[in-house]
Amino acid sequence: MKSTPLSSPNGKSLPVLPPLSGLCSFEKACQPGLPVATCVSRLKRFHYTLWRLHQIMIAHIAEEPRYELKMAFSHHGFLAAENDTNFRTRIGEMREPPLGLEALPHPALGVFFDEILATPSSAERVIGLYEKAFPALRTALQNYLKESHPLADAPSIRLCRLALVDLEDICDYGEQVVAALVPDELRTESAQWISLLDVCLAAAGGLDGSAKSSAGAEPLRHYSSQPFVYAGEPRRDERFPDPFNMGVNAEAFLYDETKPAEAKVLMMFYKRLREIDVPEMMSSIITETKGKPWSYHRDMTRQLWDEARHAMMGETGFVSLGIDWSQLVMVNFTWSRCLNLELTPKERHAVLYFIEQGLMPKTGKRHEWEVSRESNNPLATTFQDFDWADEVLHARIGRDWYVADMPSASEAIAYGDACWSEVTLDWAQWKKDGLTEHRNWWPDLYRTWCANRNLPPDPEVLAFDISYEGQRADLKETSV
Ligand SMILES: [Fe+2]
Ligand SMILES: [Fe+2]
Ligand SMILES: [Fe+2]
Repeated sequence: MKSTPLSSPNGKSLPVLPPLSGLCSFEKACQPGLPVATCVSRLKRFHYTLWRLHQIMIAHIAEEPRYELKMAFSHHGFLAAENDTNFRTRIGEMREPPLGLEALPHPALGVFFDEILATPSSAERVIGLYEKAFPALRTALQNYLKESHPLADAPSIRLCRLALVDLEDICDYGEQVVAALVPDELRTESAQWISLLDVCLAAAGGLDGSAKSSAGAEPLRHYSSQPFVYAGEPRRDERFPDPFNMGVNAEAFLYDETKPAEAKVLMMFYKRLREIDVPEMMSSIITETKGKPWSYHRDMTRQLWDEARHAMMGETGFVSLGIDWSQLVMVNFTWSRCLNLELTPKERHAVLYFIEQGLMPKTGKRHEWEVSRESNNPLATTFQDFDWADEVLHARIGRDWYVADMPSASEAIAYGDACWSEVTLDWAQWKKDGLTEHRNWWPDLYRTWCANRNLPPDPEVLAFDISYEGQRADLKETSV
């Protein structure tokens, strides 16, 4: 159906422009679409799905040992939070107060996500996430685009299309993860559990509730028959062979004016990669803090994703220099481990805020950016530039969600400092217990980097040997 040609009063025909501001053809627009009540019901299920997916991925960042999955959960948890925010807002625009955003749309859908949350293995978890939940959401969004009215419901359609851009990427990535991590034997062993997920979706009338749902008892729980217990102790894979090693004090090198900027870039890439411990730690704050509004979860998840990006910037930095960081750089988990195991969520947030507000002055993020410019490493300059911008945002998030809960800004800082000092970063004990030798890995890294560039090592740089014994990363003394 084409738009009817219009003529002006003087008989001249008007130029033909695309109709309906480009939303769709009249042919499509002349067909009726879903009623508002159905749209709201489906949008609530999209919201519920993204909310639960966010929760599941964030809750498994610390205990997931595989580096790439930690990063993927950080990324996909962030995308779930952003799209959920969009759907929450849209539901509020559709004659909906009370919103009922906390309500469970169907008991079987609750079981579906509880089961994925409670899986004891990464392999089953990635099946649940990337083979079941995300593809089901993708199909549900595609169906919404086909069935809702493109003109009448244009604001929802736009949000579904935006979500689909993310969903396509997530599903592509997830397919590769499942292919790499799930052996055929596991599929056979877990066949019953995998079919339980299908049973749940079918009982719920499909993810969007558009099919006939069962009114009977909810499907029999398997892993989720016990309440989920969050595991905050960070785990790492083989590329982190010495996770208690605190033998190389990056800050002592970085703030030493006699050291050359080029070599400092190596320390900055190390510091960036070591930021893998921030998503591990923030996942515990987000998971264990109760009673906050959604905007808290959204902001904190944005910060968590930034920290994961910073780690991957460090990784990319080493790749750009032809350095195998898994052999030459001992990236520890001592900070996230101690904070997760020893402090309350509020105390952890206090430490995070204390560290991040200290990054802004002269020795902090600006300094790192200036050093990278001085070093003539354009990639490091790009990374430090954005690392700095992100950290300014994080200071704002800290003010909104941590300082605002404290009597004053100065007390917020003092409390963070005190909480950090309480943590037992026990250098000597770890050595005594045989957990690490705190080996100084710097000379090997520096020598390899010099060899890659056909340059002789500078003896003074090579001789750097300051550890974190008795020192925190801000060069203050530790409690032990
Ligand atoms: Fe950071
Ligand atoms: Fe950073
Ligand atoms: Fe940060």
